[in-house]
Amino acid sequence: MEIFLDTANIEQIRQGAKLGVVSGVTTNPSLMAKEDTADYEAVVKEICTIIPGPVSAEVVVEGTEAMIEEARKIAAWAPNVVVKIPATAEGLEVTSALAKETIKVNFTLCFSLNQALLGALAGAAFVSPFVGRLDDAGHDGMELVEDIVDTFEYYQLPAKVIAASIRHPQHCLAAAKAGADIATVPYKVLTQMIQHPLTDVGVARFLSDWQSISKRKGK
Ligand code: G3P
Repeated sequence: MEIFLDTANIEQIRQGAKLGVVSGVTTNPSLMAKEDTADYEAVVKEICTIIPGPVSAEVVVEGTEAMIEEARKIAAWAPNVVVKIPATAEGLEVTSALAKETIKVNFTLCFSLNQALLGALAGAAFVSPFVGRLDDAGHDGMELVEDIVDTFEYYQLPAKVIAASIRHPQHCLAAAKAGADIATVPYKVLTQMIQHPLTDVGVARFLSDWQSISKRKGK
């Protein structure tokens, strides 16, 4: 399973890139609103220079023609930009049109297998089931990821499954077990994934034992 960072924060993306495990980024208007800038284009372009893999940027207008037009503009920002289109009837039409132009689409705000299936049939490169938001609503978000993965595999649909709206490390390991192609994670979750108290205890013990050997050598 690949790891994408779910953020529009440049510093977090730079830090994540240093770890060498981040192969893409997903943004959305809410993540952008947390940053101290109004220039979405400049932010996405900068992210694309830091991470060479897919960087998702969302279309935020309504109406199929306006969405297609904006998607074309966003897709021209950088060769690795992926356009996020919501899983609506309009979004489906837009996804089909963009796929014909070989513009990569991330079919987002997916909350059902039907939405995911239609997005994949329309030619989306990625579909994003929102795990945490389904959990919040009393459903099992990861069950949806499992169903999408199984269905795409059964019907040999090429769309990649991004487990999105990830809230904690448990979501990441469940996404990996479910066979998600990608988990897009907040920076905090990425840092939590590597942490284990027994590793910290082990490192501290090895260091102190090594110091006692060094002291012995000094005698
Ligand atoms: O990847 C989708 C994500 O940005 C939504 O996360 O936590 O707002 O549900 P959340």
